[in-house]
Amino acid sequence: MYMCFTVLAGLAILLFSYIRTFCPYFSDDCAYILRSLKLGFRLIKYKKIKPFYSILDCFLDAVKRHPAKILLHFEGRTYSYGEVDKQSNKVARALQAEARLKEGDAVALFLPNEPCFVWTWLGLAKLGCPVALLNFNIRSKSLLHCFSCCGAKVIIASPELQDAVEEVLPTLREQGISVYLLSDSSSVRGISALSGKISQASDEPLSPDLRSNINIKSTALYIYTSGTTGLPKAAVVTHERVWAASFLQAACGVTAEDIFYINLPLYHSAGFLIGMAGSIERGITIVLRRKFSASQFWDDCRKYNVTVMQYIGETLRYLCNTPRKENEKDHKVRIAIGNGVRSDVWSDFLNRFGDIKVRELYAATEGNIGFINYTSKIGAVGRVNFVHRFFFPYTLIKFDIEREEPIRNSEGLCIEAATGETGLLVGKITRRSPFVGYAGNKQQTDRKRLCNVLKKGDLYFNTGDLLRFDHEKFVYFQDRVGDTFRWKGENVATSEVADTLTMARCILEANVYGVKVEGHEGRIGMAAVTLREEEDFDCSDTYKQVVGYLPAYARPRFVRIQPRLEMTGTFKMKKVKLVEEGFNPALIEDPLYFLDPEKKTYVPMTEEIYRAIASREIKL
Ligand SMILES: *[C@@H]1O[C@H](CO)[C@@H](O)[C@H](O)[C@H]1NC(C)=O
Ligand SMILES: *[C@@H]1O[C@H](CO)[C@@H](O)[C@H](O)[C@H]1NC(C)=O
Repeated sequence: MYMCFTVLAGLAILLFSYIRTFCPYFSDDCAYILRSLKLGFRLIKYKKIKPFYSILDCFLDAVKRHPAKILLHFEGRTYSYGEVDKQSNKVARALQAEARLKEGDAVALFLPNEPCFVWTWLGLAKLGCPVALLNFNIRSKSLLHCFSCCGAKVIIASPELQDAVEEVLPTLREQGISVYLLSDSSSVRGISALSGKISQASDEPLSPDLRSNINIKSTALYIYTSGTTGLPKAAVVTHERVWAASFLQAACGVTAEDIFYINLPLYHSAGFLIGMAGSIERGITIVLRRKFSASQFWDDCRKYNVTVMQYIGETLRYLCNTPRKENEKDHKVRIAIGNGVRSDVWSDFLNRFGDIKVRELYAATEGNIGFINYTSKIGAVGRVNFVHRFFFPYTLIKFDIEREEPIRNSEGLCIEAATGETGLLVGKITRRSPFVGYAGNKQQTDRKRLCNVLKKGDLYFNTGDLLRFDHEKFVYFQDRVGDTFRWKGENVATSEVADTLTMARCILEANVYGVKVEGHEGRIGMAAVTLREEEDFDCSDTYKQVVGYLPAYARPRFVRIQPRLEMTGTFKMKKVKLVEEGFNPALIEDPLYFLDPEKKTYVPMTEEIYRAIASREIKL
């Protein structure tokens, strides 16, 4: 008996050390698989349960459990679960009376990161209304486009965005749109003030009957993504997707005692779904910030006992660029969730700010596949594991970068990329991993579908992202295909920028692309343009167009004047060579201009400016 026990113990130790040596990620894999399975079963339960249980019901349960617990810290004030619930009842009642909203009516929110964002959304959810989250940086043509593609008849805006609303007001009025401002009064015809109505409304709960037809496949939100071409697209986010995204906190190990710091915009999926909806799912406290501030970051974390932070690559780099301080390891942050960090920044971050578990994610708002970096492998966005792949089949296929299409074999099928080779990530479209598409844009939706991938007749979601799997099954993000580049954490759609440029009188055609700048993630905007006959490049008019229509991150900082634009055989503009040539005036013979925000115009690009950018005297 004793012998037997010793042998078993010996075997166990052997097995354990074998696993430690040859499968170093075994325990991480197991923990992650278990957690994912648990969450998967919850999602299956929510799909079946009647009446449907939404994130709103989850919020209401949290209100019952702990009405006095703080939901939001914001600029020195606190808002408890109970208060936010009551406030959302008032908003819902005011809107019900004023705008006659009913189940299924889409409403657009045009609000900065403030607590009212949260309760206005909750109030609308109580009425069964899907909510379109407009990016508060967009203006005029883009704003109208985003607004109209979700089919909303009502827009609710913050008083600080009144100018942007007034700019498009004539068109909104023509279309019979109701425009509300969260202010006490409005002196503009066609804009109604809502705050007084909200404060007078009753805070009694609303009947769930108001939303009795909502189910897991109903649209909960429209979130805008800059796609490969054209204006932003409204990704349809169903309740199923809201649940899946809100589980990410749990999958990353966030518990009911954590305190979550949101400094990313609430109009993106990261801030809204992973940050806010995820915090509600956990029933935790959120520290909300109007915008990210590197200098305030750790003070905030200390002040509010933050334990979980959210990041994008840029924000981690800004944190690493702050001057060193004595107390920089003095905080309680234990998990960081986000995406897009470079490996060097990553290591630097851990060295400076201590042992924080970084959970790098890969996912797209509208996509049907995502990864989480649940081990501690620097540089990887996740791991291939069979459970995940069984439930959400995906693969990498060989891709022709120059022609921007998958490589196909003689039978017309795609070819899987080898281990270690960069390929296009595609996720099989199934009932479990659906692709809902974009509101009011069938063409764009179809473009994201890829058929005959591994078998005749199969259907995949084309992520448009190039990834690589290594021999240890780690997943690495490589690049985005084609016409979108990222700058300051935002996707920039090149054709949207090109449309704006050609509104300048002097510009005939524009080819927009992103170029690398030493020491920055992503690419900064640059445009090659041709001029109309008899026209010179008009620096100030071009500047006016660009600043009037594009958010700062999307404005082309460099403009290169060319006699003609090079096209591919399929009339797509050639970019690869331009991207490689960058913006060094010593190497480029074409006239070159630089957007100078201080002089408020484009100025001729000089070697002096080039050096100042390299030495960071000029901040981009
Ligand atoms: C943070 O934690 C400390 C010690 O546990 C506590 O005294 C303090 O009140 C907390 N701060 C906040 C904002 O909750
Ligand atoms: C994955 O996580 C580990 C630690 O949690 C980190 O060191 C590594 O850099 C991460 N990968 C990426 C791409 O950030």
